[in-house]
Amino acid sequence: MQRIAIFTDEPGWHGKQLKHAFLNRGYQADYVSLTDCKIQLDDISFPIKIKGFEEKLPYGVFVRGVPGGSLQEVIFYLDILHALKQLKIPVYNDGHAIERSVDKGMTSFLLKNAGLPTPMTWVLRARKDALLIAEQKLKQGQKLISKPLFGSQGEGIRRIEKMTDLLWLTSSNGIYYLQHFINCAGAGYSDIRVFVINNQTVAAMRRRGNSWLNNVARGAYCETIELNKRLTHLAIKATATLKMDYAGVDIIEDKQGNYHIIEVNSIPAWKGLETVCPLSIAQLLVDDMLFRYQCPV
Ligand SMILES: Nc1ncnc2c1ncn2[C@@H]1O[C@H](COP(=O)(O)OP(=O)(O)O)[C@@H](O)[C@H]1O
Ligand SMILES: [Mg+2]
Repeated sequence: MQRIAIFTDEPGWHGKQLKHAFLNRGYQADYVSLTDCKIQLDDISFPIKIKGFEEKLPYGVFVRGVPGGSLQEVIFYLDILHALKQLKIPVYNDGHAIERSVDKGMTSFLLKNAGLPTPMTWVLRARKDALLIAEQKLKQGQKLISKPLFGSQGEGIRRIEKMTDLLWLTSSNGIYYLQHFINCAGAGYSDIRVFVINNQTVAAMRRRGNSWLNNVARGAYCETIELNKRLTHLAIKATATLKMDYAGVDIIEDKQGNYHIIEVNSIPAWKGLETVCPLSIAQLLVDDMLFRYQCPV
């Protein structure tokens, strides 16, 4: 049986779903941590070593998690993904897609540069620059949000609503990422998650948070929604702009009915989404990877 590596440190529900989906197509998938890979140039015919794949490299790798760590550790993990791709092994999503999306500053820049609607954003090094922008915006009645450049599941995100909030305004690892806060349409707080695979939308949901953070990991409640043409177009264009095989695109609708793309996730979860749609997202992902990269059966 051909073998696939699923890069993850916490396989959990998603890992299990993927393993089953690969097995359904005749592939054995095994979990591996990127921390257990090596570059060994003394064996140039086989320069990347993956634990459990010592005899033969996998037919493809599915990236479900890239561990955190020092800058050098993270670059090393991305090097492994880049090197595997160079060796013509399908990497789903590839290292470049992950780099672009994990970095919220680059995501914002690329979305804006492609003419897509994304909230006004500043990525700054100096506290005085951050304070200047924040003061100006608050005076104009514009609330802001500050986020870590590398963050997920709503971690470290704060809202700046009033001048006294500036007292605690601190950088996240030396960088200030400030963004216009978008007041969402309707009652309470919600945003929209659209799942895109191979340039097609496959499912969407509304996430209703307990507060303005609408991450499922923070307890947001999932509701079914119908995709309209504009949402479909934006989600597909955002995924293509970040050159991803698949993505979870976060979009907020404001009170005027305009959409704002907040984030394009290259390693999105789909457990919440499956509670409101009858699809097997893992099988769709696996089939897309195997079909498009023509992995042999
Ligand atoms: N500019 C914004 N205006 C209003 N709410 C926002 C904004 N940015 C993020 N949020 C809320 O915070 C959540 C998490 O933000 P996001 O940028 O997606 O980071 P994470 O990677 O932590 O999910 C979003 O799903 C949304 O509910
Ligand atoms: Mg998000």
